[in-house]
Amino acid sequence: MSANPNGRAAKPRLLLSRRLPDAVEARAARDYDAIPNREDVALDGAALAARAAGCDGILVTAGDRLDSAAVAALPESVRILATFSVGTDHIDLAAARARGIRVTNTPDVLTEATAEIALLLMLGAARRAHEGERLIRERAWTGWTPTQLLGVQLTGKRLAVLGMGRIGQAVAHRARAFGMEIHYSNRRRLPPAEEQGAVFHAEAEAMLPLADFLTIHFPLTPETRHWLDARRIALLPDGAIVVNTARGPVIEDAALIAALRSGKLAAAGLDVFTGEPALDPAYPTLPNTFLLPHLGSATIETRNAMGFRALDNLDAFFRGQEPPDAVA
Ligand code: DGY
Repeated sequence: MSANPNGRAAKPRLLLSRRLPDAVEARAARDYDAIPNREDVALDGAALAARAAGCDGILVTAGDRLDSAAVAALPESVRILATFSVGTDHIDLAAARARGIRVTNTPDVLTEATAEIALLLMLGAARRAHEGERLIRERAWTGWTPTQLLGVQLTGKRLAVLGMGRIGQAVAHRARAFGMEIHYSNRRRLPPAEEQGAVFHAEAEAMLPLADFLTIHFPLTPETRHWLDARRIALLPDGAIVVNTARGPVIEDAALIAALRSGKLAAAGLDVFTGEPALDPAYPTLPNTFLLPHLGSATIETRNAMGFRALDNLDAFFRGQEPPDAVA
C-alpha cells in the first residue's frame, strides 16, 4: 500500500473511535493522519462528532451507537464510516445514505473466532462450567461425587442452527466433530456441498421442536428483534439449551429468563445482550446461564484481521475505488 491511499499530498484524516490492536493502529498511523483514542473511552454521538471535526473518515466499532441523531451530528467533512465489525445494526444506514456517507463492515474474518465462542457457550452451558469453576475459585469443592453438577453432553444431540451463513456453517462444522446432528433454517437452502448432510427447514419454527441445542446466527433487523419469544421458546423441547452469539435483542429477555427459571430450558450460553454492556440483572443470578462479555471475535488474529479489513476499505475509498465491503 502506498504511504498515502488517496494519492493526495495530505493524508486523509481518520478518527479511531476506540483503541485498536497495536498492528492496526500502526498501519493507520502510517497511512493516515490518524487520531487515536488513547484513553479508550466510549464516545457518545456528541463526543464522536466533536472529535471528528475536520476528519475525512471514522473507524467506528460495534460499541459505538450511530443512530440517526449521531449520524446527523457528524461534521460535513466525514465521508466514510468503516466499522470494525461484521454487524451494522449500531449504525443507521439509511441516515448515512441520506447524508452521502459511505459505510463498510468486516465480513468473513471473524467467522472462525465466533464459531469457537459458540462452541464454548454450548459446552459451558451444557456442562455447567461456571458452576464448577465457581466451586474451585470459592474453595467450596469438597470432592468428587457421582451426582455432582450433572450436565448433558453434546454427543448425539440435535443442533438447530438459525441462520446458516458463514458463522452458522462454521459452528455446524465444529458441532459435527462432537457427533451432533445438524438441522438448520436459512433464507435459502444451501447446496449439498455446503449443507454437508445438515437437514434444511424452510420454516424456522418447524425446526424448533427438534432443537436440543439452538444457536442463533442471524443479524439483528426489525424482523429478527425478539425473534426468540415466549411462543417460540414453548416450541423447543423441554431441557433445550439456547446459545446466542449474534445480537442480544434477537431474544426476548423476559421470556428466556422465565424459561430458565421454570426449567423449560436447561441452560443458556450468551455472549451478547440487549443494551450491553448493561444486561438484564437476572442473567448473572441464574445458575443455568453461562455468560461472556461479547467475546465472539476477541482473538488477536481476528481483531487484527478486522482492523486490516476496515483499513482496506478505507484505502479503497480514499483511492477513489469502490470499498470491497460497502454496506451503504
Ligand atoms: C461484530 O463484528 O459484529 C461483532 O459482534 C463484534 O465482534
